[in-house]
Amino acid sequence: MEFKNILVEKQDGLGYVTINRPKKLNALNKDTIEELHEAFKMLEEMLDVKVIILTGSEEKAFVAGADISEFAHFSVDEGKELARKGQEILFNYIENLSTPVIAAVNGFALGGGLELAMACHFRIASENAKMGLPEVSLGVIPGYGGTQRLPQLIGKGKAMEMIMTASMITAQEAKEVGLVNYVVSLEELVPLAEKIAGKIMRNSSVAISAAIRAVNANFEDGINGFETEVIAFGDCFGTEDFTEGTNAFLEKRKPKFQ
Ligand code: COA
Repeated sequence: MEFKNILVEKQDGLGYVTINRPKKLNALNKDTIEELHEAFKMLEEMLDVKVIILTGSEEKAFVAGADISEFAHFSVDEGKELARKGQEILFNYIENLSTPVIAAVNGFALGGGLELAMACHFRIASENAKMGLPEVSLGVIPGYGGTQRLPQLIGKGKAMEMIMTASMITAQEAKEVGLVNYVVSLEELVPLAEKIAGKIMRNSSVAISAAIRAVNANFEDGINGFETEVIAFGDCFGTEDFTEGTNAFLEKRKPKFQ
């Protein structure tokens, strides 16, 4: 697939996905959502890609939301379909990838933009970043998982306040409430993501994907996360990475995971 709205690169075990519609502050239109799905699917299938870094082009925006011009005239059914399809092909899809995805939030992350960052496995931000869910100011609510993931990440009370007031918070405030893990200058943002990715890449990809599955199970309806953990833990014992990791420890050497 040829990408028009995003840039995709691969280097040294890292996949880079950059949303690239700067004139529209990287707003997520239908084509961009579909391209992002294809890009993540492609990178997930590349076994030499160990971590994916998602960011926005230029310095103003990560993503300023879903593209308002595309849905302003939608009917009730079209609205439901927009949210359902988006959740399925992009937001839930990213959350459930086996490959860790780090959101490097480089500016405005609003509405669908913050929801996209929240679907990633964790987030870091630059000092200029601003985050919020402004949907109620447009007469709608977050539809790409925001009402679920924001309370999971920062607690119900603060999430309710952010959603009801439609206000933005600064990167520093986002760090204080646990929405992002680190705040650095814009120049340091991608290098920090690469540094963290480097630490992740030293570990077993097979074990990391099992850990993602087990952590996510905590938030799935009708699933017993502890039981998911038991099974995923046990399955690790049958992997080459487990043999290598434990042998390397006992032999006092660094593991070489496949
Ligand atoms: N959907 C569609 N277009 C958007 C957009 C969105 N979510 N966010 C920004 N844009 C477009 C603007 O319409 C403008 O396009 P134009 O130059 O063709 O008029 C361009 O991006 C630049 O945005 P602009 O509003 O002029 O920049 P600003 O610096 O004055 O304000 C924001 C920046 C982020 C505060 C403002 O763009 C904004 O509020 N965006 C919408 C945020 C939102 O409600 N998102 C949730 C959607 S559900």
